[in-house]
Amino acid sequence: MMNTNAKALIMHARKNGYAIGAFNAANTETIKAITQAAKKLNSPVILEASDGEVNYIGMAQLVAIKKIYQEELNIPIILNLDHGKDFDACKSAIEAGFDYIHFDGSKFAFEENIKICTEVVKLAHAKGLPVEGEFTHIAGSSADHTKEDATQFNKAEYYTNPEQAKEFVAKTGVDVLASFIGNSHGIYATEKRLDLNVFKKITEALPNTLFSLHGGSGIHDDDVRAAIKMGIVKVNINSEMRIAFKMTLQQSINASNEIAIYKITPDAIKAVQDVVERKIKLFGSANEA
Ligand code: G3H
Ligand code: ZN
Repeated sequence: MMNTNAKALIMHARKNGYAIGAFNAANTETIKAITQAAKKLNSPVILEASDGEVNYIGMAQLVAIKKIYQEELNIPIILNLDHGKDFDACKSAIEAGFDYIHFDGSKFAFEENIKICTEVVKLAHAKGLPVEGEFTHIAGSSADHTKEDATQFNKAEYYTNPEQAKEFVAKTGVDVLASFIGNSHGIYATEKRLDLNVFKKITEALPNTLFSLHGGSGIHDDDVRAAIKMGIVKVNINSEMRIAFKMTLQQSINASNEIAIYKITPDAIKAVQDVVERKIKLFGSANEA
């Protein structure tokens, strides 16, 4: 019997030294690409949507699509609210049937973040859902920053503080912590590098906590592999898929006068699927479904 419980799946990932890719759903085409890649590699996968993507596709629609693909493809699909902006957004996702909740309280003052996050944890844990918390602002945005240098964010003052992380997790009870160690959102002129010494201090302060890695696009593969060995169980990917989809779709549109959308998009879907397959192999979750 396939295990589809989100908490059990991320715990299994930690125990077995791999991470589950968390791929942002932009539209039905990218959802198709993500789920086809996971099926092909027999991998669990996290389908996620941030505020803009939830509003574009719809919460109920995301829950329904996830359910159908999970049944049809017979692979575990975890549906995550990515960067949930406030308590109400998290509450709506829990009530709609999401499987995992990321409350991004980094814009609130530390104590306010703890207060709201604790309420989200209480609501989610009552339904057995894992919660990811965040208090350090994760720099950048899932966009084209190829005129900028990613190393601009490799500054100690930007990184997650291990002692503050310990206090945050103890007070909120989150299952997963989103930390910042150089993993800015987006694609840059240079590869992103992680400060694994800082991450080591964070994991030593929180030996029983699981960790997510945001800004997964464009991070040096060696750093991703090392961070997974140290406790990352979820790696978020959006920008590399967005670029693959848009660039390929542009080429397809420019290459013909076809107007049937289902005839125009296959190459773009394949380009996104290639990105997802490469990431699943990098994260080590193939054949873990
Ligand atoms: O929450 C989503 C991810 O952190 C996306 O980051 O666009 O750098 O892959 P990325
Ligand atoms: Zn993120």
